[in-house]
Amino acid sequence: MIPVSSPSIHLTLMLDALAGVQRAAEAHGDVVMHRIGRTRLVQVTHPDDIHTVLHARWPVVKKSRVVKGLADIVGDGLLTADGEAYTALRKVAAPRFTPRHIDGWARRMGAIAASAEAPVGEVDVLPHLTSLTLDLLVDTVFGTDPGPELADALGCLAVLLDDFQAQTYSWQRLLPEILTPGRVRRRHAMKAGLRSAVDALVARRTRRGPGGDDLLGSLLFGEDTADPETLYAHLLTLLVAGHETTALTLGFALHHLASRPDAVERLRREAWAVGGVPRCLADLQAMPFARAVVQETLRLTPTVFGMGREIVEPLALREHVLEPGMQVVTPQWVVHRDPRWWADPLAWTPERWMEAAERPRYAYFPFGGGPRVCIGNHFALLESVIVLATLVERVELSDPAPLALRPTLTLRPADGVRLTLAPRRQQRSEVA
Ligand code: HEM
Repeated sequence: MIPVSSPSIHLTLMLDALAGVQRAAEAHGDVVMHRIGRTRLVQVTHPDDIHTVLHARWPVVKKSRVVKGLADIVGDGLLTADGEAYTALRKVAAPRFTPRHIDGWARRMGAIAASAEAPVGEVDVLPHLTSLTLDLLVDTVFGTDPGPELADALGCLAVLLDDFQAQTYSWQRLLPEILTPGRVRRRHAMKAGLRSAVDALVARRTRRGPGGDDLLGSLLFGEDTADPETLYAHLLTLLVAGHETTALTLGFALHHLASRPDAVERLRREAWAVGGVPRCLADLQAMPFARAVVQETLRLTPTVFGMGREIVEPLALREHVLEPGMQVVTPQWVVHRDPRWWADPLAWTPERWMEAAERPRYAYFPFGGGPRVCIGNHFALLESVIVLATLVERVELSDPAPLALRPTLTLRPADGVRLTLAPRRQQRSEVA
């Protein structure tokens, strides 16, 4: 029998999801069930069981009910679709995200990062990072520039996602959603705004015509031309999944780095050795410490802190069987700080990645795993190292404000990522 979480843990989960999943694992072990109304939500935190869940394929598992709810906002794209519809979507997008293909985007990413003005003073660095990662995504994956309409799209998207998140992750989920006419009208208006902004983006890329190495170009002019609904779902899914996740990761990395000047210096020296900023994946391979900074940031502050599945056919774990209808969550938040796999788990120590260590495959899975592994994982790592190398060359980091984390669809800081950035006097060219 799967143990059921105690009422006090249940209450913690409702008020603070991160503390709730952590306490549930400590009190009840690697497999525990939360009963939320009629929903049976099973939390799985042993790497071997996570392996079983993530590698199970449709029709044994599908995306969880919560994730599926996103389709109402972003269309039925890569994040939410299952079965044949999903396979077709992934087949079309996958060639644009292979390491070989991304290699060709590295120089453009570097140029965009270099042309962005670095923030200085006592600031929240997130807005800068969000706009930069958006520029990088739109240039490479959509083959155009963000233009004014994308700011509108993101505004509408933020309202819709906030609404969705409030219903999904907070105490509001205990109450039935009250859809007043005003609320319905607002939702319609936001969706219409989103649609017209995405249409404008597509129109701009269409005017550029065929050619180019972007995904949108191939969806518009290639062999796999997409119908308007599929196109819309692809674009919105990539917008949602493909820039804020990296911006948050970069923000958390800067927060951690601001207390570790020695790590910043090591990162700079590694970047200088490849000419300042990586221009291809081979340069990235030559920057193990920079990669370790990103890896360690994604361990301690995993932007995606838990993933959801619904069981469709019985699935045996090591000691339990998950039954059809159960919702399953695999929380990176708990596993990435489990002392069974991590020494001194609450310390941010990029150095741990520079040494070989034996641990189960799914003791670390910031990008998920199995057939639904993040399609943008190589992209995210490359752009993260490019942006970090560019920024630390230009500014000194200090005085990070305490980071209060807020679990929403992604792990977000409650009050931004505030730190002090001072322009650097001694640049590489002067040192050389
Ligand atoms: C540090 C940044 C990122 C993190 C931590 C992250 C994390 C994840 C995770 C954990 C999943 C798996 C979800 C699941 O199995 O339920 C996922 C899926 C996905 N990610 Fe990422 N991601 C990042 C960046 C990106 C980027 C840059 C893109 C696109 C440019 C992207 C596009 C996607 C898509 C489309 C999926 C769905 C894949 C599928 O089911 O086939 N992600 N991501």
